[in-house]
Amino acid sequence: MSEKIIIFDTTLRDGEQSPGASLGAEAKLKIAGQLAKLKVDVIEAGFPASSPGDLLSVRTIAEKTKGPVIAALARCIKKDIDLAVQALEPAVKKRLHIFLATSAIHRKYKLRKAKQEILRLAVESVKYGRRFCDDVEFSPEDASRTEPDYLCQVVEAVIEAGATVVNIPDTVGYATPVEFGKLIMTIKSNVPNIEEAVLSVHCHDDLGLATSNSLSAVENGARQVECTINGIGERAGNASLEEMVMILKTREDYFGFRTGIKTKEIYPASRLVTTLTGIHVQPNKAIVGDNAFKHEAGIHQDGVLKEKRTYEIMSPESIGLKESRLVLGKHSGRHAFGKRLEGLGYKLSEKDMLKAFERFKRLADKKKEIYDEDLTAIIEDEISVVPETFKLVYVHTTSGSQTIPTATVRLKKEGKIFQDAACGDGPVDAAYKTIDKITGLGAELVDYSLRAVTSGKDALGEVTVRIRKGKKVSIGIGTSTDIIEASAKAYVNAANKMGRGSSLAL
Ligand code: KIV
Ligand code: ZN
Repeated sequence: MSEKIIIFDTTLRDGEQSPGASLGAEAKLKIAGQLAKLKVDVIEAGFPASSPGDLLSVRTIAEKTKGPVIAALARCIKKDIDLAVQALEPAVKKRLHIFLATSAIHRKYKLRKAKQEILRLAVESVKYGRRFCDDVEFSPEDASRTEPDYLCQVVEAVIEAGATVVNIPDTVGYATPVEFGKLIMTIKSNVPNIEEAVLSVHCHDDLGLATSNSLSAVENGARQVECTINGIGERAGNASLEEMVMILKTREDYFGFRTGIKTKEIYPASRLVTTLTGIHVQPNKAIVGDNAFKHEAGIHQDGVLKEKRTYEIMSPESIGLKESRLVLGKHSGRHAFGKRLEGLGYKLSEKDMLKAFERFKRLADKKKEIYDEDLTAIIEDEISVVPETFKLVYVHTTSGSQTIPTATVRLKKEGKIFQDAACGDGPVDAAYKTIDKITGLGAELVDYSLRAVTSGKDALGEVTVRIRKGKKVSIGIGTSTDIIEASAKAYVNAANKMGRGSSLAL
């Protein structure tokens, strides 16, 4: 049997550092649940010292997510380690992830510390961490730009101090595949105690090489890969989990490695992360992009019809992508609706089921054919993890080439109705100005995007907005067959998130 590569998912820590990604505690717990279903080996749940909210969210994940090892990040600071230990306390399997930069540029400008001081801090922190946790990972940040001799010295010392995993980050995505592979090989051959720890890599995608660099590392001795769903993460992101896993699966013949990932859960994980972070996947993204399994050229379509493998190196089903199916219509009952949701992997409470069914009926009045994608959009929109402080009750706009765009909006908060009207540059702007008047939000709209959930003129429109107020950014999503309504819902959703402080402080 081929050797196993450990999949360490950092969607909830590095992924959440994506500009504009804002995940509240409930959203993080939901993602952690999906990562457990995906059977990742390790979930890095957060960085407890970064905020009390993050500590609480790591602790909740540690308490409620069963299966994977739960990891928490900490700097080489006692207080950080103590907070990470506190957050990990309820986990059945736990890992402390301690990091400290080692490169000359970080030593000189960021840390203002000499090599020996850094070595001492790293060793002391690992020893301290081992007092509370049997599994301690150490990352020499910016390892790929660190002098190899010094890097090997640090790696040897932290293993000696008790590190069970040593992770080599290409923090700024500077390395190239052959070069990074050689660095891993250098560590393997020059660190005498390297076999006492698992060698891991953590690659960023600034030059689009994160997955290639991770693969090259695996070919040269790394046995753990750190990655994120949809490749989200700091700046250009991290190595994408779906790419790493599907490369190793599709080309097991070449690489001779396997992972424990349940690949059919990849697509649901990708959708969930998109919905909850508001960060869309580019259509041509490998594995999970909208076009990844679409054949446009006639010759290709002909080939696929005759034999799928002519143009498909992996099947859409293998990542959990089901053919878009016409599922239900106006006359479908609650039982059929519930069964289909079950088939899509949703287990709803009685109350949520009722809410979703009512929404489905309203949609069925407007849209003749309802597909799986429509149902997913309804559930993701209706059964939001964000409690609705404000709920959109009514929106009416007038606009045209000779009219001043005007909106009237009615919102509900704690049973009370609030109504107002405003003019704007267009109907969406008018609606947003009205919502601002009612909620007193006064945020800046920094991004707005609209996509059709399915094809056809009666398709559901999904609007994603990103709003900013001071240093806080929040993302909202709304769906409707009416794009003005979808736009208003998305804005109210973002406003609700902003209000409860689940947004990311930049
Ligand atoms: O990119 C990086 O170096 C990191 C470390 C904390 C592992 O995210
Ligand atoms: Zn990183």
